[in-house]
Amino acid sequence: MASKLDIHISVDVLEPAELTEQERQAMQLAQETANDAYAPYSNFLVGAALLLEDGSMFKGSNQENAAYPSGLCAERTALFALSAHHPNKKIKLLAVTARRRSETHYLPAMPCGACRQVMGEYEYKQQEDIPVLLQAQDGKFYRFRSVADLLPFQFTKDSL
Ligand code: THU
Repeated sequence: MASKLDIHISVDVLEPAELTEQERQAMQLAQETANDAYAPYSNFLVGAALLLEDGSMFKGSNQENAAYPSGLCAERTALFALSAHHPNKKIKLLAVTARRRSETHYLPAMPCGACRQVMGEYEYKQQEDIPVLLQAQDGKFYRFRSVADLLPFQFTKDSL
């Protein structure tokens, strides 16, 4: 009989009042940063905020392009900019949220596969879990323990 590999992913589903103060601040920055999105094609504004080990924060928004595939998601904009400017600062938390330009309420923005892969790269690089806080439905939040939980069976440096 074939053996099985059981994967357990445990995600916290949180009410706003259950966020830590740092999580609340990171999510607030992600919400504010969505306003900076350059998204004239989708009008879907995404904000990502990174809490760093020294307590400072870094941010990114989605950047679209008339040649659609040349655009970039908020998560990768934030991560690449951080790595370019502060290559050695560890990430303690990644927060992501989104909204439609025409609406004020925030929507879930589950990171796309390419962003998960890039998050996984930096988690591998820093050799420390990166917790991920995502806007969920109805004003709730999902807290993932690590990027590995968002992307099991990762292709990493160890694969090469
Ligand atoms: N987008 C992000 O920035 N992050 C996500 O997690 C999902 C999608 C952007 C890409 C594009 O600018 C717009 O949302 C619509 O797909």
